[in-house]
Amino acid sequence: MASDAHVQIAPSVLAADFVKLGQQVKDVTEAGADLIHLDVMDGRFVPNISFGEVVVDAIRRCTHLPLNIHLMIQEPDLLLPSFTKAESDQVIVHAEACTHLRRTVSAVKDQGKQIGVAINPATPISAIEEVLPLLDIVLVMTVNPGFGGQPFIPAALDKVKRLRRIIKEQGYATRIEVDGGIKADQTAQDSVRAGASILVAGTAIFNARESVAENMQRMRSSIQGLLPEG
Ligand code: DX5
Ligand code: ZN
Repeated sequence: MASDAHVQIAPSVLAADFVKLGQQVKDVTEAGADLIHLDVMDGRFVPNISFGEVVVDAIRRCTHLPLNIHLMIQEPDLLLPSFTKAESDQVIVHAEACTHLRRTVSAVKDQGKQIGVAINPATPISAIEEVLPLLDIVLVMTVNPGFGGQPFIPAALDKVKRLRRIIKEQGYATRIEVDGGIKADQTAQDSVRAGASILVAGTAIFNARESVAENMQRMRSSIQGLLPEG
């Protein structure tokens, strides 16, 4: 699949220094990020509150890159217009947070925006199978959502592999994204080998040890030459 030829890296700004958020977004943009991953949390769907529309709008003004907006919010329908403003926006809702998932997916698609659906580690693929042909992205959570810096759950790799097989067999164009605990090591490599073509990374990119540019370089090198399996 041509769209899978390039594995995309999506730094999550949740781990950025919010005192200089604009500069950090510019730094990852210059360092070759493909997407900017934004974690919107409501304190209900996940036990944490992060940021909302105002911050997303500000970040959009700091980069030309598409925003990969991960909505960890309960019943996101009413808030969707706040996050589908730009042509390039990719909006990701959680399957577990939507009572009428197909309706939510269609509402985003009807606006011509890219739609993704995320599934938690305990959620089976069957939860999204009926809407899979409509999806641009399936986000497989590789940690329980809510916080950065958690360890990668290895069992999620098997889910990525099974999902990849279904997508390939059915001939869908859906990309697989992984989010949580991805480092410039086996976690990134195994995820790509299993079939992921979008890697989210928060604390691996924004940390006090190295610069954003060095961390981006390390992540890119760790997956060099690898293509999503299948
Ligand atoms: C977790 C978020 C992630 C988080 C990843 O709920 O969805 O995007 O920022 O952070 P790391 O890469 O540090 O696990
Ligand atoms: Zn996320």
